[in-house]
Amino acid sequence: MPLFPIRSLLTATALATLTLPLAAQEAVQPENTNAIAANTSVQADRFMVAAANPIAAQIGYEVLDRGGTAADAAVAVQFALNLVEPQSSGIGGGAFLVYWDASTQALTTFDGREKAPMAATPEYWFGEDGTPVGWFDAVVGGRSVGVPGTLKLLETLHDRHGRSDWADLIEPTKALARGGFQVSERMSASIAGAKDRKLDAFPAARSYFFDKTGAPLKTGTLLRNPKFADALELIQRYGSKPFYEGRIAEDIVEAVQTPFNPGILTMADMAAYEVIERPAVCANYRDFEVCGMGPPSSGALTVGQILEILSRFDLPKMGPGVESAHLFAEAAKLAYADRGLYMADSDFVDMPEGLLNDAYLTGRAALINPSQAGGKASAGTPPWQEAMLRSPDTQLERPGTSHFSIVDAQGNIVSMTTTIETGFGSRVMTNGFLLNNELTDFSRAPEADGKPIANRVEGGKRPRSSMAPTIVLKDGQPVLAIGSPGGSRIINYVAKSVIAILDWEMDPQAALDMGHFVNRNGGTDIEAGSDAEELSAGLEAMGHEINVRDLNSGLHAIMITADGLIGAADPRREGVAMGD
Ligand code: GLY
Repeated sequence: MPLFPIRSLLTATALATLTLPLAAQEAVQPENTNAIAANTSVQADRFMVAAANPIAAQIGYEVLDRGGTAADAAVAVQFALNLVEPQSSGIGGGAFLVYWDASTQALTTFDGREKAPMAATPEYWFGEDGTPVGWFDAVVGGRSVGVPGTLKLLETLHDRHGRSDWADLIEPTKALARGGFQVSERMSASIAGAKDRKLDAFPAARSYFFDKTGAPLKTGTLLRNPKFADALELIQRYGSKPFYEGRIAEDIVEAVQTPFNPGILTMADMAAYEVIERPAVCANYRDFEVCGMGPPSSGALTVGQILEILSRFDLPKMGPGVESAHLFAEAAKLAYADRGLYMADSDFVDMPEGLLNDAYLTGRAALINPSQAGGKASAGTPPWQEAMLRSPDTQLERPGTSHFSIVDAQGNIVSMTTTIETGFGSRVMTNGFLLNNELTDFSRAPEADGKPIANRVEGGKRPRSSMAPTIVLKDGQPVLAIGSPGGSRIINYVAKSVIAILDWEMDPQAALDMGHFVNRNGGTDIEAGSDAEELSAGLEAMGHEINVRDLNSGLHAIMITADGLIGAADPRREGVAMGD
């Protein structure tokens, strides 16, 4: 029997923030928490999927129930998310995937990150006055669109690890796109929130996401997407070829020629796109190996630094509270300082080899005062053969992303974080899907103080990400798959949840429910309306600058135990875990 979680909507926490002016961009997350749901952990014996939307999770569940692999289910879930959670991810965007192969007992990762057009230069984001344009001015329009990688990633994954027929995996989403699906509460709130952020300034997006009067679609509206269904039909028949070399590629190249901020993407850029399989980056954390996505993501390295620094303190004994939140924030400051200076697409820039070096991190941990906040951290000097002076990057990616975790009946595991960058991406839509604005994940300034910024734009480069799809191993065996959306806060959400589950032995759902405390090498963010608010006074007394705010993670976790699988879905979104 399938096991379903009990969900009920309790409190609407952040609808008010949806109408804040653009000037408050950094205070507002383009995708906000629209409700806090009361989820319970879900247990299963054979397989499980945890994803950000119940329709997508159900489609994945059915694939697994028919004997499909985790790779098959990932394909089906991603196509479904593109339709029912279009603001967050889809084939117009990019993704990273960590994969555990049960037959070879090996971990690998797939990099489906977007790429800058070959003609892009470090001055890509300069305006007419020769200085970098503002963030939101860069987001909207075709110029922010990188060559999408998600579809090629799904195809690569399916070729390597799929068992089900490719077209069958797409069929449920195609049928929903033709027949219609009900707009979810979250999708409706996201559309309303993006109305004042230029979503209705782009004709294709306006006619799809708004009614004839120009009002945002309401929850429960039956929405059809025949253009997406037609594109899916082509992809069912011919795989990714029409998307990268054929009719859909032509449409994408044409669509990025927006009147405002036209892009420079070419058919040659589309045809040259490649998914890259890369070794997983693993950090030793007590008895565990916490493994994830290396560059161009900063996810695994930064999560790994936080955890390895914290392994020098007795967090398991401390438990949750002010003392451990302080240490977490201080470790995060140190890790984000290194991230800002060193981390970028390592196919384009040299990176230190010793970012997870044991002796180096012992030295970094020694910088932490256990009873006093230390102010803004500077990057360290990890072991590095070729020194190259760089300036820190202050770029903060915004959240518009989704994460799902899947375990199949054979024990294969997918941990995939997928994005079109900010909510609704570039706002440019073609063939019924949105195109990403991932090129705003590059630093808009190419240099500072006369020194190059590692994450500057370069032709064919992949923008640095914070996405941190993670699989944790113990004694060489997987024990946890987890990840989250949340822009550059992803790293904090994932690291803290790993600690809650592994060190504090919290039930996965309780770990995901726990209020967030976040530090990105500045003030300490505390999640408004959560139990984390109880930490504020204690942290303030230790010298932390506290910002109480909405913190919209979207964690989806599956724990693999000797007694079966335990799944959890973030209460801040509308997702579920389902298994059998
Ligand atoms: N666009 C979000 C990230 O890649 O971190």
